[in-house]
Amino acid sequence: METYLREPRSVETQRLLPFTGEGAYHGATKRRGEPAASSASRAAEGPPPVEEMRPRTLEAYAASGRRTIASFEATFPNLYDLKAELGEPDQDEIRDDGVTFCWCPFELALREAGPLVKRVLEAMRPHLHGDKRYTYVDAKIQYFAKGDLAVDSQLWHVDGSIAARDERVRALGHPILHDLRARHEAPERTPHYLSYQSSTHCATLFATEPVTVTLPELIPSFDVLHDAVAARDPRAGHQPAGSIVAFDGFSLHRPVPAEDDGWRLWVRGIETDREVRLSNSIIECYGTVFRP
Ligand SMILES: [Fe+2]
Repeated sequence: METYLREPRSVETQRLLPFTGEGAYHGATKRRGEPAASSASRAAEGPPPVEEMRPRTLEAYAASGRRTIASFEATFPNLYDLKAELGEPDQDEIRDDGVTFCWCPFELALREAGPLVKRVLEAMRPHLHGDKRYTYVDAKIQYFAKGDLAVDSQLWHVDGSIAARDERVRALGHPILHDLRARHEAPERTPHYLSYQSSTHCATLFATEPVTVTLPELIPSFDVLHDAVAARDPRAGHQPAGSIVAFDGFSLHRPVPAEDDGWRLWVRGIETDREVRLSNSIIECYGTVFRP
């Protein structure tokens, strides 16, 4: 399946959908509306998870037959480390860069990228940890009108959560569960991320101070995490225009509506032990903008 797509952009051809708030976060590999069962059957057929993504809490529930989900104190250190400031590109440069990436291997992305994404990837490279099996690139060029969102969600969340969709999950009454406790029990196994965004008019909001909240060990969606974090109202900041920041699987962040009209390039570098192979052609809809 293609992990990159080269196509011309214009305001008129920017793909748009109504915002529902029910959608996935950045980089999710599921189309909106795709039945959970098809994801579940794929997951069940897949190889056993790598240690980084192993749902140890869920495994313990399945082994003991436990049916009620316990809570725990979850601390999010909220790594948010400004690594580089490349300067804000002009709007035509963003629009004309040309290539969308979705779980594309880093070296392939570097070969296929437009001039702007190429510069971003070269600036990211010295900040890669180099301790994971795979380095992937996601990148989208999107045109926002004021109020638009980059994804179909506004929830506080973390990237790279340990999600399971299998028989053990259905036994607990859900199609999907994120094993928060498993990530917290082995923090050293977190994936690493670098993100770039070209413009501040639709920037991601990152929490910039540690947050400790009581949460269920296993959560069926990010709503419960969002509500707990929003109640704390942590100190937070918008990623500066043209900057690269490092974050990890404990870094709380949320999409926010565009404050103005304009183009934005967003790029994410992902270091993970999990091999991602796109199972359907989501790249055509990657980069859709959501309008309330
Ligand atoms: Fe995210």
